[in-house]
Amino acid sequence: MKALDGVRILDMTHVQSGPTCTQLLAWFGADVIKVERPGKGDATRGQLRDIPDVDSLYFTMLNHNKRSITLNTKDECGKGIFTRLIESCDVLVENFAPGALDRMGFSWKRIQEINPRIIYASVKGFGPGPYEDCKVYENVAQCTGGGASTTGFPSGPPVVTGAQIGDSGTGLHLALGIVTALFQRETTGRGQRVECAMQDGVLNLCRVKLRDQQRLTHGPLKEYPQYPNGTFGVATPRAGNASGGGQPGWIVKCKGWETDPDAYLYVIAQAAAFDRLARVIGHEDWLGDPEWNTAEARLPKIDQMFDEIEQWTMTKTKFEAMEILNPLNVPCGPVLSMKELSEEPSLRATGTVVEVDHPTRGAYLTVGNPIKLSDSPVEVRRSPLLGEHTDEVLKQVLGMDDKAIAAAKTDGAL
Ligand SMILES: CC(C)(COP(=O)(O)OP(=O)(O)OC[C@H]1O[C@@H](n2cnc3c(N)ncnc32)[C@H](O)[C@@H]1OP(=O)(O)O)[C@@H](O)C(=O)NCCC(=O)NCCS
Repeated sequence: MKALDGVRILDMTHVQSGPTCTQLLAWFGADVIKVERPGKGDATRGQLRDIPDVDSLYFTMLNHNKRSITLNTKDECGKGIFTRLIESCDVLVENFAPGALDRMGFSWKRIQEINPRIIYASVKGFGPGPYEDCKVYENVAQCTGGGASTTGFPSGPPVVTGAQIGDSGTGLHLALGIVTALFQRETTGRGQRVECAMQDGVLNLCRVKLRDQQRLTHGPLKEYPQYPNGTFGVATPRAGNASGGGQPGWIVKCKGWETDPDAYLYVIAQAAAFDRLARVIGHEDWLGDPEWNTAEARLPKIDQMFDEIEQWTMTKTKFEAMEILNPLNVPCGPVLSMKELSEEPSLRATGTVVEVDHPTRGAYLTVGNPIKLSDSPVEVRRSPLLGEHTDEVLKQVLGMDDKAIAAAKTDGAL
C-alpha cells in the first residue's frame, strides 16, 4: 500500500515545475495520467537531447511513474473526453501560460461544475498583480523572487543558482498544497483551487534575505563580508559564500584546488566548536587572545579567520579535512561534483540516486524520491512513451470500447 493509492491525477503539466509536482505524487502512489498534445507531447521530450530520436533526460527524469495519453483538448471530441476525465479524477494539475485552460473552455467555474470534488492546482509565474499574464521560466523566477539579487559576490552581478528553486521548488510547494487540499476534502467533501506562483515560491525560499532587509534598517549586517570595511546600500546585498545564519561560514580551498574545480570545503566556524577548530589549524594562540576568543571579536575579521583556516585546508583533500573536522564537531561539508554525487554508494543505497531502464534509451541515472516515508515504499519506474497508455486509460478509466477509441482517433482527438 502506498500513501496516495486510490488518488487519480489528471496531469496537464509540462516542462519542469508541474512535472516535478506530479512525479512526487506518483511516487507516493497516485495514478498520474499525463495528458499530452497528439504528435508533439511535452516539449521537453525533444529538448537537450543526448541521443537522437529518444526522449531526453530532461523529460525522463521529470516524469517517472506516470501514464501518458495523447489528447487534443481543443478539439470538440477531445473536449468531451477531457470532461469525462475531469469527472473521474481527484486532482487536475497544470502549469500552462496564464489563461490557457480558460481558453480551452475549462475555467475553474466550469471545472467545479463538472466535478465539485476536484482539486485544481496550478503553477504560474506570478500571482495576481502587474505581471500576472507573463510567461515565466526558472531563471526569471529566480530573478523576480529575490534569489538572484542576493546570490553572487558583492562586487559582481546577480547570479542564478543551479538548484532549480523556481521550477522544482514551486513544484514541491504545489505538491504540499495538493495533499493539504485532499486532506481538507476528507472533511468538507469539496475540492478547491490550489495556486503557487513561482515568484512566491522563490521568495519563500529566500525568507532569510527578507529578514536581512529589515535588519539592515537597524545597522550593518555583521555576518556579511561587507562588514566592517565595505558599504551597505538600501537592499540586502549579495554575500558571496557567507553562511546566512548566525554562525560564520565560507568555502575554502583544499588540496588540489589548482586543477580540480570542486576541491573546496564549506566550513562553519561555529562558536561552540571554535576552540577545537582553532587548535587543529594551529591557532591555539587565538584562544587566550581577546581579539579572537569571542564570536563578537571575530566578526570584523571573518575574512582573515577563513584565510587562516584555508592555509590548513589547502594541506588536506576536502575528504581528509572533513574526516578530521567532523569528530571535532566542526560543521563542514565538501563541495561535491555531480560526478561524485552520481557515484556515491550511500545515495544509491537510499534510493536518492537510482538507475532506471528505458526501452529506447537504455539505462540512465535519476534522482529518486528525496522524501522517505516508512510505510509508503517508492519504486522508481521509467517515464512513459508519448501516448503509451492512451487506449489503456480510455478503456480502464472511462470505459470506452475499441470502436469509440477508433472514432476519436479518426477525429484527430487522440
Ligand atoms: C512554461 C511556459 C513559459 C511555456 O510556454 P509555451 O511553451 O508557450 O506553452 P503554453 O503554456 O503557452 O501552452 C501552449 C499552448 O498549447 C496548448 N496545449 C497544451 N496542451 C494541449 C493539448 N493537450 N491539446 C491542445 N492544446 C494544448 C495550450 O492550451 C496553449 O495554447 P494557447 O496558447 O492557445 O492557450 C508557460 O507554460 C508558463 O509560463 N507556464 C507557467 C509557469 C511555469 O510553470 N513555468 C515553468 C516552466 S518549467
